[in-house]
Amino acid sequence: MIAPIDEKLLAKANQLTKELVLDNDKLRTVMEFLLKECELGLRDDEAATVKMFLTYVRNVPSGKEQGQFLALGRLDIILSPRFLGFYADLGGTNFRVLMITLKGDDAKLDSDIYAIPQEIMVGPGKNLFDHIADCLINFIVKHKLESKKLPLGFTFSFPCVQYGLASAKLVTWTKGFDCPDVVGYDVVKLLKEAIKRKGGKKNIFVDVVAIINDTTGTLMSCAHRNRECRVGLIVGTGCNACYMEDLQKIEKWPANYTEPKQVIINTEWGAFGCNGMLDFIRTEYDRKVDENSLNPGRQIYEKMVSGMYIGEILRQALVSLVNAKVLFDGQMPKNLDQKYNLLAKYISRIDTDVYKSYTNTKYVLEKHFAKSNYTVTDLEIIRETTRRVSHRAASLVSAGCAVILNRMERKHTVIGYDGSLLRYHPHYRKWMEEKIKYLIKPNMTFDVMLSEDGSGRGAALVSLYTKCNKSILCLHSLIGRCRFLC
Ligand code: BGC
Repeated sequence: MIAPIDEKLLAKANQLTKELVLDNDKLRTVMEFLLKECELGLRDDEAATVKMFLTYVRNVPSGKEQGQFLALGRLDIILSPRFLGFYADLGGTNFRVLMITLKGDDAKLDSDIYAIPQEIMVGPGKNLFDHIADCLINFIVKHKLESKKLPLGFTFSFPCVQYGLASAKLVTWTKGFDCPDVVGYDVVKLLKEAIKRKGGKKNIFVDVVAIINDTTGTLMSCAHRNRECRVGLIVGTGCNACYMEDLQKIEKWPANYTEPKQVIINTEWGAFGCNGMLDFIRTEYDRKVDENSLNPGRQIYEKMVSGMYIGEILRQALVSLVNAKVLFDGQMPKNLDQKYNLLAKYISRIDTDVYKSYTNTKYVLEKHFAKSNYTVTDLEIIRETTRRVSHRAASLVSAGCAVILNRMERKHTVIGYDGSLLRYHPHYRKWMEEKIKYLIKPNMTFDVMLSEDGSGRGAALVSLYTKCNKSILCLHSLIGRCRFLC
C-alpha cells in the first residue's frame, strides 16, 4: 500500500517556497513598473532598462501589400525558377541555415542545424563569426551553390540598435553568449568580414542584406496569416516581445511622420528589473541563478521566465528543500547539485502530471537524477514546486503582454508567438491566456497564435529585397509573399 502524503512536510515545503507564488496585486505592480520603463525607453532616456529599439519596419503584411508587391514588378523574382532565398538564424544554442528554392508557385525548403560549441559562445568574436561562416559555407558547398551570388537574411536574436535593414550594432550579449569584443560593433559587418575571410578562395559570394530580431520575424510571419497580429512574443531560451507602436507615442522617433504612422518596436523587455525594480518579487533562488550566470545583474526579467533559466530556478529551490531536510529526507540526489542540470524540458514533463499521478515526475527523477527511492510526499513537493516556478513564469510574461495590449488600446489583437518553452510546455499557453484576459482592460480581446516556422520562412525571403527598391515596404511585402507561397 502506498503511504499517504505527509501533509505537515508538504505544508513546510510550500511555506519555504511561498515567495514563488505571485498574487494579482503584485502582478499589477509589475505591470505599472514595466510600463514606466517602456515609456523611458521610448524617450531614449539613458536610465531606461527596457530599450524599446526601433526596427524601422513600418507595416505588417496584408493582401493589399502583396498586390503592391506584384505591382512593383517583383513577380519575376518570385516565379523565376530556382531563385534562392537564404536565411541564417543565431539566437540559441544552435545556428540554423535555411534556403528556399522557388519553382513557379512551389517553394522547397532545405535547412540544416549546426551546433555552436560552448567554447565558441564565450570568447573572441572572431571565433564565433568564423564558425558561422564555416557553417554557411558548408551548407553552400553541400547544396552546390558555389559561384552564385546569394542574398542572405540574418535573424540575430540579441539586443541591437538598428541603423537600417542591414546594419545593427550589438548592445549586449544574452542567453549564454559572451564575446565581449563584439559589443558596440555592427554584426552584419562582422559576418560579412568572416564570410570573406573563410569563403574568399572557395568562390562563395554571400551578401548579408537584412538583419532582424526573432520577435519581429515572428510578428511578420503571423501577421501574414492573421492581419490582426500586432505583437511578436518569444518564450524560448530567452524572452522578448515586439509590437506595433504609433509614431506619435514615440518621443525618440526621428521626426518623419509619413504614412504609415507606426513602427515595430523591439522592446528587449528581458532586461527589465536590472535597476532593482523587480526586487520586491525576486526570491533567493532568482538571486542565486543571477549570481551564477554569465551576466549577473542583467536580463533579470528574462531570468525569471525563460527556458534557459527556469530549470535552474527549480533546481535551486529543490536543492534548498533538500538542505532544509524537507525533501528526500535531506539526501541530495546524484546530479541535482550540479548547475544547469535541470532542463526546462524536465519542467514541461513534470508539469504534465496531474494531481496525485506522478508518472512523469518519477521518470525525471529516475532517468535524470538517478534517484529511485522517494516517497509520495517527495513527489508531491516536486510537482507543486515545479508548478509554482512555471506558473510564476507564465504570469510574469502575461503581465508583460497585458502592458503592451493595454498600451495599444486595440479592440482585438493577435499575439504571434514562438519559442520552445511556450511551444512545448503543457500549460504555459493556457495559463497565459487566462492571466492576460484577467489583466487587460475590459472590452479588449486577444488571441494567441503559434508561428509555424518561427521567423524562418519569412526571413528567408527578406533577403530578396536587394532586387527591389531598398525600402522597408519591400521587406514586409516579401515576408508576406513568402508565407503565401510556402
Ligand atoms: C534577446 C532578444 C531575443 C530573445 C528571444 C533575448 O535574450 O535579448 O533579442 O529576442 O532573447 O530569443
